Amino acid sequence: MKNLTLLSVVTASLLLIGCGQEKSAETKVETTKTEAAAPAHETVAQKAEKAVEATKEAASAAAEKTAQVAKEAKEAVTAKAAEATEAAKEVVTKKAEKAVEATKEAASAVAEKTAKVAEDAKETATKAVEATKEAVAPKTETAAAPAAFGKCAGCHGKNGKMKALGKSEVIAGQSKDDLVKKIGEYKAGTRNVAGMGALMKGQVAGLSDADIDAIATYVSGLK
Ligand code: HEC
Repeated sequence: MKNLTLLSVVTASLLLIGCGQEKSAETKVETTKTEAAAPAHETVAQKAEKAVEATKEAASAAAEKTAQVAKEAKEAVTAKAAEATEAAKEVVTKKAEKAVEATKEAASAVAEKTAKVAEDAKETATKAVEATKEAVAPKTETAAAPAAFGKCAGCHGKNGKMKALGKSEVIAGQSKDDLVKKIGEYKAGTRNVAGMGALMKGQVAGLSDADIDAIATYVSGLK
């Protein structure tokens, strides 16, 4: 709009300057008219100059304002960008922390699970070994029943599960150490639980330490 105004003013000036170059052979009346019009020309020219000046000033002010706005916008964008970077950093850090935590947890869970599986496997293996031992042991021990046990069976039973003369404890399955100790005490005449110690002394008096060991091993293995 300002440009248009300026253009109009300039056009008007040019027209007026054109008027000033009119032939000198003009009539007096015309000269007078021209002279009368001169101040008007100046006024219009001055106005045009002022308008140009004002336009220049306005343009310079607008440029300044634009520069200012641009500067402010730039600053605002820079500040926002810094803020966004900070926020992004925080988010990334938090996410990384969470990821580390999750990884730790997962690793610990896996370790726990592995330990549990290993323990289970160990238990299973132990049980298998024991089962195998059990499956093999009785046969071996039955086959290795010492001859010295023969006379014991009459009162304690072939499998050692009878209460001898209804008085003794069941000897099958007692620990080898207990059996060795008890038999040794009967042999020495120092054990008498149900008043039949003397009877038992007679049963074991002739047994060697090797016999007692073999009997105790065998009887402790009876089930
Ligand atoms: C005539 C039957 C008889 C015979 C044979 C016999 N015992 Fe006994 N046994 C007894 C009696 C009765 C007792 C309980 C003795 C007591 O009062 O302490 C006993 C107790 C025992 C005990 C202690 C049980 C306990 O836990 O208190 C053992 C061990 C034992 N006899 C082993 C043997 C062995 C080994 C033989 C074979 C070498 C044998 N006996 C032969 C009758 C017999």
